[in-house]
Order: sequence, then C-alpha cells, then structure tokens
Amino acid sequence: MKKWIVGLFSFMLPLSVMAAGGNVHLDKANNDLTDQASLQRGAKTFMNYCSACHSTQYQRYQRVATDLGIPDDLMKENLMFDPKAKIGDLMTNAIPADSAAKWFGAPPPDLTLVARVRGVDWLYTYLRSFYADPSRPFGVNNVTFPNVGMPHVLEGLQGIPQPVYTTTTVDGKEHQAVTSTKVEKLGELTAEEYDNTVRDLVNFLEYSGDPVKLERHSLGWWVMAFLAIFTVIVVLLKKEYWRDVH
Ligand code: HEC
Repeated sequence: MKKWIVGLFSFMLPLSVMAAGGNVHLDKANNDLTDQASLQRGAKTFMNYCSACHSTQYQRYQRVATDLGIPDDLMKENLMFDPKAKIGDLMTNAIPADSAAKWFGAPPPDLTLVARVRGVDWLYTYLRSFYADPSRPFGVNNVTFPNVGMPHVLEGLQGIPQPVYTTTTVDGKEHQAVTSTKVEKLGELTAEEYDNTVRDLVNFLEYSGDPVKLERHSLGWWVMAFLAIFTVIVVLLKKEYWRDVH
C-alpha cells in the first residue's frame, strides 16, 4: 500500500515541476478566491487591460457577473466593451487570430484556463517580470517567458523595469542572464500597489479556470463533517451489534 502511494507521488512529481515552467524563481501569488472584492478588481483589470487581445471564451459575462456579485447593468456599462455583446454571450474576442499572429509573432491565447495550465505563481511572476529590451519588437522582454510576443500592457501602472543581470560560470565560461528586474521610474502605482493589482488579476484568472472551485471546497467541509458524524454512528452500531456475541 505504502509503495503504491510513493509510486504515485514519484510519478506526479516531474509533472508538477514541468508545470512550474523551467528553473525561473516563482514568487507566491497568495491570492484568495474567497475575497470577492479582489475578484471584482481583477475582473475590472482584465476587461480593461487584457480583453482587447485575450478572450476567456469558455466563460459567459452573465456567469462572471453572478459569481462575483456584480449587478447585470453595472457589468454591461463598465465591463463589457464589445458593443454587440449581450450579457449571456461567451467572452470571445474580435481579434482575428491570423492577423494577431502577424502583429505579435504569436496569437494571444485564450486565458480561460491559463491559471490551471501555468499555475497562479507563474502568472503572478510573469506579469511582474517584463523589462526594457530595445532589441525586441515592443521594446520589452520577460524573465519568466523569454522573447514573449506580448507587449508590457501594464507599463502605465508599473513603469518599465530595467533588467538585473547575474553572471554564472558554466564549464569555465561566463554567462550573463537577466534573473530579475528593477523599476527605476514608477508608473501610476507604487511597487506594492502594482503587486496587489496583479494579485487580484491572477485571482480572477484562477476563478475563471474553475468557477465552481469555491462551491466545491465549501461542499467538501460538509462531506467531511458528514463522514465524521457517520463514523461515530457506525462505531456505536458496531458496539451494539457485538455486545451480545462477546
Ligand atoms: C496587445 C495585445 C495583448 C494584450 C492587451 C495582452 N496580451 Fe497577453 N499575450 C499577447 C500575445 C501576442 C501573447 C502570446 C505571446 C507569445 O506566445 O509569444 C500573450 C501571452 C500571454 C500569456 C502567456 C500564455 C501562455 O500560457 O503562453 C499570458 C498569461 C498573458 N498573455 C496574460 C495577459 C494578461 C493578464 C493581460 C492583461 C493584463 C494581457 N495578457 C494583455 C498579447 C496581449
């Protein structure tokens, strides 16, 4: 039995390492799915800064409004920028994939499930890892996703960080690599405010990838409570049945 468990975990380990993506250090997102205000702020940032290029097309506006406690009219007025979209529509996107691929070198992928594919820590780190690199088409590169096709769309909020190099020696040869970034001229937000904005955004993306997660977790507690009570009943029953035998 024990060997079986160890076997299962050793099989899962490489997968979780792969999901983390390379050997870049990832910061902890520490987002909280039960924080509705954070989810609402995240939705706002997503619709304002990301939805022009990225869809979340397995999700409907209506569902987001209901789950996040946003009244339908506020959702329509403030968070739906496609004039033809109706509240019940899927959150698709108007950019034709082939033109986008030409403009950015790669089409912006759908983000409904991105938090499940990449993990929240990866997303949190990625969105805080852009840095100035004049050799790239949009003048920015990314530590977590080298040579990414996406511009630093949150630069107005964060500012454009400068690269911080680390030199490592491999086989006697020195290699320089960008390992972190440093903001010299802030955007609209302080570093802490920017981290919080990204945390809210990542929170929204995690919700998006698994909208029933919250419900499932709270249901889980009831199931555990039921099992605990049931165990007591079963033990008492067992005692009752065996009393006459002994
Ligand atoms: C101007 C268009 C544009 C905007 C706006 C934009 N992105 Fe992107 N994004 C892209 C493109 C293009 C790629 C593909 C990059 C590549 O593969 O090199 C990408 C890739 C990504 C990826 C990597 C996905 C993966 O798993 O490969 C994430 C995550 C992401 N974007 C998140 C966001 C978030 C969050 C926002 C809003 C803050 C945003 N993007 C805004 C164009 C955009």
